[in-house]
Amino acid sequence: MTANPNAAAEFVKQAAPGFTPRVGIVLGSGLGELADKIDTVASIDYADIPDFPRSSVEGHAGRLILGRLGGMPVACMQGRVHYYEGIEAQAVALPVRMLKLLGIEILLLTNAAGSFHKKMGPGSLMVLNDHINFTGRNPLIGENDEAFGPRFFSMEEAYDPILRAHLQAVAKELGIKLHEGVYLHYLGPNFETPAEIRMFKKLGADAVGMSTTPEVLVARHAGLRVAAISNITNLAAGMSETKLSHEQTLESAKLAAADLEKLVIVFLETLKRELLKAHLQSTKDGND
Ligand code: HPA
Repeated sequence: MTANPNAAAEFVKQAAPGFTPRVGIVLGSGLGELADKIDTVASIDYADIPDFPRSSVEGHAGRLILGRLGGMPVACMQGRVHYYEGIEAQAVALPVRMLKLLGIEILLLTNAAGSFHKKMGPGSLMVLNDHINFTGRNPLIGENDEAFGPRFFSMEEAYDPILRAHLQAVAKELGIKLHEGVYLHYLGPNFETPAEIRMFKKLGADAVGMSTTPEVLVARHAGLRVAAISNITNLAAGMSETKLSHEQTLESAKLAAADLEKLVIVFLETLKRELLKAHLQSTKDGND
C-alpha cells in the first residue's frame, strides 16, 4: 500500500510557511555538498517527515532542504532510497509526490554512474535522454492514485527535451562537456559482472547505476517535467583496472562535483529568468 503523501507535505509546509518550491532536486551518492550552496529557509530530517523513507547508505545525508539555489525556490533531497536497501518499490513514490504537493513543476535528479564509453570516463557528466528500467520493479504497481495521474501513461520524452537543451546551452557557456545518453538501472547491490555490462551495451545503454528510474516514473506519472544528470565515477565493470567499490564511487564523485554544482546553479538561474519572462508575457497577454 502506498503511504499517503499529504501528511508529509503538510508537515513540510508547516516547517516553511509560505515557501513554495518550483524545482525539486535529488542529490545522489557523493553529491550532497550542492545542498550547502542553498540559501536555506528550512532543513528537515527525513526521520521527522511522516512516512518518509530513509536511506541507510553512506553518502546520503537524509535531509530535505528548502531554500533558494541560483535564485530559484527549490526543495532539495539530500539522499534517496534505493530498491537494494530492501524497501517496497512503492515507498519511492512518497518523496516525489510530496514534492509535487509542495508545488514543484520540475524534478532535477542526479546520480553516480558507471560509463560504457572510454571517452566518457570518471569525472564526466552525462545528461540522461532516456532510460532502461532493468530492475523488473516499478513504484507504480498496485492501485492507481488518480489524484496524481492516469493508470497508463507515456514514457516518450520522459527526460524533457527543452530542459536538456537548456542544460546543454548552459554547459557550453560554462565550457563543460555534457555527454548525453541512456541510463540503465541495475538493481544491485553488487556492481555488475563484465558479461552483464557487455549485454547492457548491446541493449543500447550508455551508463549504469542503481537509482533514478523509480523517481522518474513517479514524476512523469504526476506530470512533472524531468531532467537528470549522471556523475560518471568509473568505467563500468570489465572496462578498466580500477576495482569498483562504494568508496571508489564516493571518491570519484568529487571529480565532477564542482562542474555539476556550477551547471545546476547556472541552469536554475537561467530557468528562473525564463519562467519570469513567461510569467511577464502571460500577464501582458492577459492585459492586452
Ligand atoms: N554500476 C552501478 N552503479 C554505479 C556504478 C557502476 O559502475 N558507478 C557508480 N554507481
